[in-house]
Amino acid sequence: MSTDYFENLLKKPSLFIDEKTLDINFIPDNLPHREKELTILSQLFLSLITYPNSISRKVLITGKTGIGKTATVKLFGKMLVKASNKREIQIDYVHINCRKERTNYKVLIKIIHSLNKSFPKRGYSPQDLLEVLTEYLNTHDLHLLIVLDELSYLIQNGGDLIYSLTRINDDMLNAKQRISIIGIVRDISCINNLDVSTMSTLQRNILKFENYTKKQIFDIMKYRAGISIKENAYSDEILEMIAKIVFKVGDIRYGLNLLWKASKYAESRNLKYLNSECIRFGNQDLMSFSTQDAIKYLSIQKLIFLLSIIKNLKKSENSEISISEILNLYKILCENLGLNPRSYSQLWNYLNEFEKEDIISLNIKSEAIKGRKAFIEIQDIPLVNFESIINTTLKSKGINL
Ligand SMILES: Nc1ncnc2c1ncn2[C@@H]1O[C@H](COP(=O)(O)OP(=O)(O)OP(=O)(O)O)[C@@H](O)[C@H]1O
Ligand SMILES: [Mg+2]
Repeated sequence: MSTDYFENLLKKPSLFIDEKTLDINFIPDNLPHREKELTILSQLFLSLITYPNSISRKVLITGKTGIGKTATVKLFGKMLVKASNKREIQIDYVHINCRKERTNYKVLIKIIHSLNKSFPKRGYSPQDLLEVLTEYLNTHDLHLLIVLDELSYLIQNGGDLIYSLTRINDDMLNAKQRISIIGIVRDISCINNLDVSTMSTLQRNILKFENYTKKQIFDIMKYRAGISIKENAYSDEILEMIAKIVFKVGDIRYGLNLLWKASKYAESRNLKYLNSECIRFGNQDLMSFSTQDAIKYLSIQKLIFLLSIIKNLKKSENSEISISEILNLYKILCENLGLNPRSYSQLWNYLNEFEKEDIISLNIKSEAIKGRKAFIEIQDIPLVNFESIINTTLKSKGINL
């Protein structure tokens, strides 16, 4: 190896096709399992294209964090502009994050700058800006879809702007409708702080985004892995492991980060593909230390049993292992230490306890002949670290292996 560090790194084969596509702000061309929401939005906004500037739409989107609200609306905005361009109808789209632009003034300036970059930043009141905006839309015969993302922040500081924007053309008789609005909030109850008429306007069209199921998260991660990581570098089993972790957290961003970290870890180890230990390493940085804390309070018997699980998992290529595969080593370890091995049913209780503490997860699978079989999986802590934590804990209890 030469000492030219950049050259050495550049020579290394990468596992990534394109790292950027794992960035949480990257908007992919497809959003698996949000097709229904995209269809509903298209239906709601269709009249903007069929009857230009005669109708305005106001929609409120709600749903938990990290389930694709922002991504879906951004993709929809692009689609709407594209469809209108094709028909020579002027529709524009601007996405405002109200957590960033926290005042009426900042929101309005941002909207106007999206249309006219050279507009001066200072010297106007919010009321002036509203007039500038209306005039611009009229002279350019333009309809503007304004997305107010994280709307709750604006409700706290500027409910009256939302009122003005939803009402902008209502005062004039036969006026053209130039503005549509999509608001995005996590918790619908925040709109109770708005005045009654704005609230009822927004409540007319509410689109609730449901949480993803584990299977849906798997599909999403599979799609995101497909555009970011080389095909041979991951397996469905690895993606299933990630999907389980992401399902617990609930936020797809976590999965994208985890996939990125695990891949970086694999690269640093010169691995050609992601294995379960890479996922554990990626997850370790992202997870709290609560699991590691729980281990300190386990009895010696439980620690020995846990150690047998870890040692066997380390040897295995699979991400999970059955209880019968552990028993041999467990008995040997007990014998060496002069301990009485616990009964099968007691070990079952241990496993259930470990699962409650989030140390392991248990997967029950049906098998044709033998009935149901339990598989044990460790996702959160790299096994190498886990083993050394247990050894240290055992040492602190006077046990040297
Ligand atoms: N169905 C999906 N397919 C592909 N990627 C997705 C999907 N859903 C979410 N993502 C990705 O997950 C990340 C989080 O999604 P997004 O930012 O849209 O969440 P959100 O619902 O707006 O969350 P928050 O309420 O915290 O703002 C984004 O990087 C997005 O691209
Ligand atoms: Mg968002």
